[in-house]
Amino acid sequence: MLVFVRAGDRVGLASVRRAVAVGVVSLVDVPEAAEVIVVEISQESDLEELRKLRGSSTQAVIVAHTMRQDQALWQAAERSGADKVVSSGGLSVLLRQLDGRMRSSERRERLIPLCWTAEVAGRLGIIASVQHDLGELMLVKEQGKPVCLVGPCPHAGESLGRALVEDGVITCPAHGSQFLVAGGERVRGPADCGLMELRVVEDGGRYWAVSPPLS
Ligand code: FES
Repeated sequence: MLVFVRAGDRVGLASVRRAVAVGVVSLVDVPEAAEVIVVEISQESDLEELRKLRGSSTQAVIVAHTMRQDQALWQAAERSGADKVVSSGGLSVLLRQLDGRMRSSERRERLIPLCWTAEVAGRLGIIASVQHDLGELMLVKEQGKPVCLVGPCPHAGESLGRALVEDGVITCPAHGSQFLVAGGERVRGPADCGLMELRVVEDGGRYWAVSPPLS
């Protein structure tokens, strides 16, 4: 997680150093490059600085921290644009939590929605087909768990969204290439390779394909 730190008291800076030491935080030199901006607040001029940062950094999470147990100051920091206000001693815990949330949001972005499970309950064959940058994502169910294979057909690009599925094999409607449902392996040409398979997860009433990790 990329963090810009604007000044800070001794306790707050020690908290940030701990987060850096365990790999939760990488420090950046300018607020424009940061996912999280850390600002110490102890006086009115800090609130003014906070307002400026809020105005120029609309995307970053701004964390204000202070050694002062002063409710009015904490509320003023929130009004000035802080997303979170914590005691300086609690900063490192909060940075860990923010990092965990950002990582899980990255994981969510890797899930590609395929269809609602209720819509395809009891159906067999290619039960959903979704166009995506990766290709034609087909959710195939024959026996057991659904699998996701990526079309179109590698021979001449025919869509496999309405292909026949029988005995664990998908047959391309154009020239008859065949692929195993389990794993996408080529069974018969003219296609000279198989289909990529993506992992499928069921969550929140939907089937999702898990896109391969970015390299
Ligand atoms: S396009 Fe599928 S076999 Fe030719």
